[in-house]
Amino acid sequence: MIGSDVIQNIIETARIEEVVGEYVSLRKRGVNLIGLCPFHNEKTPSFTVSPVKGIFKCFGCGKAGNSVNFLMEHEHFSYPEALKHLARKYNIEIEEEVQTAEQIASLDEKESLFTITNFAHLHFVDNLHNTEEGRAIGLSYFKEREFTDATIKKFELGYCLDNWDDFTAYAQKNGYKINQLVKAGFSIDKEGKQYDRFRARVMFPIHSLSGKVIAFGGRILGSDKSKPKYVNSPETDIYNKSKVLYGLNFAKNAIISGDNCFLVEGYTDVITLHQAGIENVVSSSGTSLTTEQIRLISRYTKNITILYDGDAAGIKASFRGIDMILEEGMNVKIVLFPDGEDPDSFTRKNRSAEVQEYIQQNANNFILFKTNLLLEEAAHDPIKKAELVKEIVNTISLIPDSISRSIYTKECSAMMNIPEQTLLNELNKLLRKKFSKKTTGEGEESFPEIAVIAEKQTEEVDFEEAEFQERDIIRLLLNFGTKEINVQATNEDNEKVSKKISIAQFIVNDILCDEFSFNNKNYQLIFNAFAEAIAADSLPNDQHFMHHADENIRNTAINLISSPYSLSENWQKMHRIFVPTEDETLILEESVNHSVYSFKLKKIEAMLASNAKEIKELTNDEDVIILMEKQKRLLTIKKMISAALGRIIIR
Ligand code: CTP
Ligand code: MN
Repeated sequence: MIGSDVIQNIIETARIEEVVGEYVSLRKRGVNLIGLCPFHNEKTPSFTVSPVKGIFKCFGCGKAGNSVNFLMEHEHFSYPEALKHLARKYNIEIEEEVQTAEQIASLDEKESLFTITNFAHLHFVDNLHNTEEGRAIGLSYFKEREFTDATIKKFELGYCLDNWDDFTAYAQKNGYKINQLVKAGFSIDKEGKQYDRFRARVMFPIHSLSGKVIAFGGRILGSDKSKPKYVNSPETDIYNKSKVLYGLNFAKNAIISGDNCFLVEGYTDVITLHQAGIENVVSSSGTSLTTEQIRLISRYTKNITILYDGDAAGIKASFRGIDMILEEGMNVKIVLFPDGEDPDSFTRKNRSAEVQEYIQQNANNFILFKTNLLLEEAAHDPIKKAELVKEIVNTISLIPDSISRSIYTKECSAMMNIPEQTLLNELNKLLRKKFSKKTTGEGEESFPEIAVIAEKQTEEVDFEEAEFQERDIIRLLLNFGTKEINVQATNEDNEKVSKKISIAQFIVNDILCDEFSFNNKNYQLIFNAFAEAIAADSLPNDQHFMHHADENIRNTAINLISSPYSLSENWQKMHRIFVPTEDETLILEESVNHSVYSFKLKKIEAMLASNAKEIKELTNDEDVIILMEKQKRLLTIKKMISAALGRIIIR
């Protein structure tokens, strides 16, 4: 644990231009620096660094943050790792806060697992290169598979000798206890006999994201059908199978720069492709893909291309797993290889450029591929075709983005020769079901939006999206919260007086008073922070949000904080900027009023719409009367707000 004072010190000391400058070549533009964004591919620089504010922001891909965030993003450091890195760079001493006995014990446990695993790893590598058996059997096997010396070194391949307990005995001689060895997965202790789990296998170490060895896959050398082809490490405190992707540590930079991740089946596919210079490849190593693994990839790219080794029919078994990828909002393509080839064999038979080209030309959009495949099967069979429609619509319904959904609906309707409206009706049924499930708490995350594609006339939905008005309120809070404006108030003698209060106070009180809330949860969080601060008689400054630990809040704040002389011209184009004039306060007052009224109007309209909907659905007359009354009240309020809004002059 690093104390918050120290964290503050680190953030304040670190010079964003120096930290970023180590990775990106920056040049001056006005008070800022610009360069090519390290997080996405670009030819003209849209990556901007503001030394004054201590932040970076890319106008191309939207990434933004401070020095710590930059390191976390670029080096894939954890938060403490990034802080420690900066502390070292700026000679800041870190006194770590005392940890609990439990934390220490669990750290010790992990530490010792890392130590043993690394110890084993060094031994296996040593066996491969420096023993007769290792060279004759292990190394020659790798050579047969056409792995170069550089590849063997890079992937840190090794060999476990064909001897009951070579490693177990060696480790014990070096002070490791048998129970530790069993726990770490290297030894098996059965009926008093202790032996090596991986004996007589070539060893593929599995790495953590930062490149530490955390587990192994061991491949048998002969073709003894009675033994499994691969033996893998069991799960330990440092190896959680479902959260690890083989090769990701080597692939992450290539995945980012290519904005695509190739997914293959096995260790050897990953290695051979790397050797051919195609480095954006990972494998789930034999197990079916998990949600955690998909999310791991989605930190680097939203595009997955599955290099499938098998025939078109065989792939049907994988459909469910692929649906999961869509559900995470990723784009999925699929590549089939010629008969009998897998990525490994195909890559060895062809030149690297040809492999690249093959992948590019044969990458089929998954949904269209699936539709095609099922259509072929359902030809001339109406019952099968009906099932097919349901199946495809179900897959489309998993896509979180409504625009993508509507595009696929259109394309699939053409492919299947079924009216688009039929698909839309089916789709909306599914989406509603899902939505109600999620909102009643059966699912953990809320579905982004209810099906709106078919219901083009739905006004309600539009009313629910007060995004613009909400954003405007938060923008004012962040930029001008501390500025003061004049407000009219009545004193104890019921006289009208003019009073000066901060804009934040004005906005927060006004909105709290009417109990309005924000649909956008980041806005709500920022608003809450202001409300809490005001209750405690203080105000958060913009720095507080620009350096916030929560990435969403940070990005939201950076995007909304607009100063005429700040990051870029784009910024000014994107947001309404207040040009300082002589009567700046007057303009501000009007703007604040305008924004607050517009916000309220939008909220009232949403309430009117949902109340009207309730009335339509009601059958009980008494309730209808109550709701009608409410509707009238809301309409009156709406009129008042509209009138007030009309009186405000916007310059
Ligand atoms: N696998 C496993 N246990 C097995 C078989 C396979 O864990 N008994 C996993 C391994 O991670 C393997 C992947 O499934 O890499 C794919 O299996 P396969 O294609 O059979 O293995 P390859 O690694 O491609 O090996 P090779 O090319 O040598 O046949
Ligand atoms: Mn294979």
